[in-house]
Amino acid sequence: MFPCLLSRGQAEVMAVLYTDDMDPLRTVLALLLALGTVSAASLGVVQTEGGSVQGKNIPVGLFRSVEVFKGIPFAAKPGLFQKPHPHPGWSGTLKATKFAPRCLQISLLQTNTFGSEDCLYLNIWVPHGRKVSSDLPVMIWFYGGGFMLGGSMGPNFLNNYLYSGQEIADRGNVIVVSAAYRVGVLGFLSTGDSSMPGNYGLWDQQAAIAWVHRNIRSFGGDPNNITIFGESAGGASVNYQILSPHNRGLIRRAISQSGVALCPWAFKTNPRDVAVQVAEKVGCPTDHTMVDCLRTVDAGNLTMAAPMIKQGNPDQPGVMNLLLTPVVDGDFLPDHPTKLFHNAAEVDYLLGVNNMDGHMFTSQDIPSLGSKNKDTPIEDLRRLLRAYTKEKGPAALELAFTEYSSEWGPSPSQDTIKRTAVDIGTDFIFLVPIQTTVYLHTTMATSGRTFSYLLSEPSLMAGPGKPYHDWVGSDHADDLQFVFGKPFTTPKAYADRHRALSAYFIAYWTNFARTGDPNVGPSAVPVSWPQMDMSSQQYLNITSDMNDNSTSQKMRLRFVQLWTQAIPSLP
Ligand SMILES: *[C@@H]1O[C@H](CO)[C@@H](O)[C@H](O)[C@H]1NC(C)=O
Ligand SMILES: *[C@@H]1O[C@H](CO)[C@@H](O)[C@H](O)[C@H]1NC(C)=O
Ligand SMILES: *[C@@H]1O[C@H](CO)[C@@H](O)[C@H](O)[C@H]1NC(C)=O
Ligand SMILES: *[C@@H]1O[C@H](CO)[C@@H](O)[C@H](O)[C@H]1NC(C)=O
Repeated sequence: MFPCLLSRGQAEVMAVLYTDDMDPLRTVLALLLALGTVSAASLGVVQTEGGSVQGKNIPVGLFRSVEVFKGIPFAAKPGLFQKPHPHPGWSGTLKATKFAPRCLQISLLQTNTFGSEDCLYLNIWVPHGRKVSSDLPVMIWFYGGGFMLGGSMGPNFLNNYLYSGQEIADRGNVIVVSAAYRVGVLGFLSTGDSSMPGNYGLWDQQAAIAWVHRNIRSFGGDPNNITIFGESAGGASVNYQILSPHNRGLIRRAISQSGVALCPWAFKTNPRDVAVQVAEKVGCPTDHTMVDCLRTVDAGNLTMAAPMIKQGNPDQPGVMNLLLTPVVDGDFLPDHPTKLFHNAAEVDYLLGVNNMDGHMFTSQDIPSLGSKNKDTPIEDLRRLLRAYTKEKGPAALELAFTEYSSEWGPSPSQDTIKRTAVDIGTDFIFLVPIQTTVYLHTTMATSGRTFSYLLSEPSLMAGPGKPYHDWVGSDHADDLQFVFGKPFTTPKAYADRHRALSAYFIAYWTNFARTGDPNVGPSAVPVSWPQMDMSSQQYLNITSDMNDNSTSQKMRLRFVQLWTQAIPSLP
């Protein structure tokens, strides 16, 4: 979460520095456009429930453009620890050409805050051909950031925003929407009872989905074809939205990348402890007057009072410090997530994990792991496992260690030890909860289909002369650049195989948004992705060199069973 932004940042900066595009075809096109000989279709002024808005048309090819609307309010400035409420509206035409500030949040170094309390805005990308579009499928993006940070446009490097919907909209012919939600203390503080139930950030997301449902037809979208998608905490958010009874009939399909409600960092059962900590930090009493007092505190001070995220210690893995999360509130989430899958029975659900999703987190917890010239002691793996199996004590640690070291032989190499540490982190933080969710949705679904994937593309940061070990695969957040088409936007930072992979992602994702089946739609796919069912348990192994051998079965089943059956059944 924190480091992912930094590493992605380096790649993006590299990408932009090398973009001196001299493609002659583009130059001719730019000339034609400048001369006004090619006029693009455009929605112009669009009526929404709050008033009229006007975006900006960006030509992307002959008779092809993407019309972008930035910073449309979907709710009013929210009150502290209150659900969002409707925007009062505006007169005149809102010039929707600038992203709104991010929701108030703590900085990466956790030393100050930035952003705004007035942050419930969304952005829309609409592709057009010769004619203005109508009835297009709609994809709504929710950002990740550990429920602590993030923005609807993502990090910005020289005016190239990570979550720009332009490539997906253009290449997949879908409308892309990205929406903001409150994070940190303001988004997720909860007393675990009705005085301050929590889940404010999830209510914001729900308000954005409902706004899109009510308004997207004016932008050329089909309100009955809404797909929500997100990564990390955004992927978990997507999962929560389809589990909540409040979205019945609004969402047809959903995509969760590297995050689900059951991830250990995405759900808490005793939120009151954190509310008490925050109250103490801002000088509020912790008795029955606590919530009234918290509502009088400055939002910046509240944001700064979030529990610190500490790293660098395998006895206290970093993700276990993410304490401000969704909770059971008896309303948005009436019950534990495992008991709510009937609400998603008609939703098509595509979800998956990166094969080394735990790499950056485990490298923070065990600093020697990422270093090419430092050894990682086996004892550090045991310390990590001990923390992850704490509830069940030493027997669980031994069971888990035996499983993970079962193929080591008598003298495991450093690479073997380090890769095992990454597997432990990946399994615990992401893969096992995601597989559990795959099984739950497959079992509980009626008309809803399930599609499961593993992303195995080698890291761009791995290899000789690069920072990561040669064997590092897809790290957390590595999928984002491909889903958002960065190999096309900033071609010099990527190779042809990355453009191929990006095209595959956009084809599967947008076909799925259009038809509920990633294989069916106007975009050609390299391999047919088999639907998940409980007998064959198939999934797609996504890489840039995909072929007919890229489907597989029973993803890490032995380890899924270890964490979901063997360990929990210990006394
Ligand atoms: C969704 O979009 C597809 C393709 O445009 C269309 O066939 C379908 O009727 C739309 N509506 C629903 C409810 O699926
Ligand atoms: C509250 O915020 C103000 C200004 O934003 C700052 O000067 C003050 O130190 C903060 N107090 C605490 C307890 O963080
Ligand atoms: C996924 O594909 C890659 C590249 O073809 C291959 O090396 C890897 O073993 C595959 N993984 C699984 C689990 O099938
Ligand atoms: C798939 O795997 C089989 C067996 O390993 C191999 O013979 C075949 O060439 C592979 N197919 C492709 C398209 O790589």
